[in-house]
Amino acid sequence: MKTVEAMKQFENIFGAKAEDLFTAAGRINVIGEHVDYCGGKVFPAALNLRCNVYGKKRGGNKIRMAFRGIDGIVEIETDKLDTYKYLKIGNYQAGVAYYLQEEGIDIVGCDLYYDCTVPFGSGLSSSAAIEVATAVTLCEYAGVPYDKVHLALISQKAENKYAGVNCGIMDQFASAMGKKDHAVLLDCATLQYEYVPLQLGDYCLVVANCNKPHNLVESKYNVRRQEVETALKTLQTALNVTCLAEVTPKQFNEVKYLLSGVVEKRAEHVVMECDRVNQAVKALKKGDIVELGRLLNESHYSLRDLYEVTGKELDTLSALARKEADCLGSRMIGAGFGGCTISIVKKTAVEGFIRRVGKAYQDSIGYKASFYETSIEDGITVEKL
Ligand code: GLA
Repeated sequence: MKTVEAMKQFENIFGAKAEDLFTAAGRINVIGEHVDYCGGKVFPAALNLRCNVYGKKRGGNKIRMAFRGIDGIVEIETDKLDTYKYLKIGNYQAGVAYYLQEEGIDIVGCDLYYDCTVPFGSGLSSSAAIEVATAVTLCEYAGVPYDKVHLALISQKAENKYAGVNCGIMDQFASAMGKKDHAVLLDCATLQYEYVPLQLGDYCLVVANCNKPHNLVESKYNVRRQEVETALKTLQTALNVTCLAEVTPKQFNEVKYLLSGVVEKRAEHVVMECDRVNQAVKALKKGDIVELGRLLNESHYSLRDLYEVTGKELDTLSALARKEADCLGSRMIGAGFGGCTISIVKKTAVEGFIRRVGKAYQDSIGYKASFYETSIEDGITVEKL
């Protein structure tokens, strides 16, 4: 939805009115963490927190970009798109433009104002929202038809190869393909997907940010990827599998003696988390929210003890949530090391939950957590202004 403030900003900065609004979503992930790059199933949903791109097509070879809350304009030239990797702001956009151009799409000069309401570094995928919103903007301005799944793949490529973060497909897929009031059960090995209504009865999801300062998440993430690749190579000497997600818990127990140390722990997380996704989707379809909550807790413990991507802040936040009588389960989401948790909380108890958990978190950690009002919305939207 457009805001008057952003429209004014656009006009002040670029001296003409914005003509279009393209948006893509931030996401949560109900369950299935750190399995997308292992060919597993994930279960994300698109949020009302979004990257909104106000645009005007200008022609020529310059893309001018401005950003809410940041002074100045970043300008990139469409004939030099391979030269902007160093940009602190604008590199995701340049990467997306670069890979679209590589596919033969004519990247057209335009003015863009980014109003991103996905908090940065929160584990809610602000980067995917920026990439996907940029991809749709540039395709619309090029006047070419596009497939949303393909835009998600291009966006992932930009993040992997241009920004250097070896992420899986979950975030970009959810950002592009999310559906109002549904979670997307996505098989990351085949990209087959199914929309499942996210109906929690008397309960709802509360999203909380632990607000831990962002620190080396990308490099730690890339290390985890290497560890599971090592695990897969070793297990392939005994099992006929193409990815870790194909290994069943039973098979894993039979062959895990081949692994040791952190590599064994990482692989065990992936195998068990994939199993939990199937159980969670079954529980949700049956309306068994208690069971869903239990699985969320198990997921968190596994990310804490086996995958080791939580940390004191996320552990504290989710443990405090779990102590609440009206909370059925809580876990970290996204890459981890900081960022957000989701908790299943009785609708009538949300206010007290936020107050008590917020206070206890601040008492224990020394700074505040943030709680967001979220709803589940569509992925990409396109609007003429
Ligand atoms: C980040 C990545 C995703 C996924 C999650 C963990 O959000 O971008 O691809 O791996 O971490 O599930």
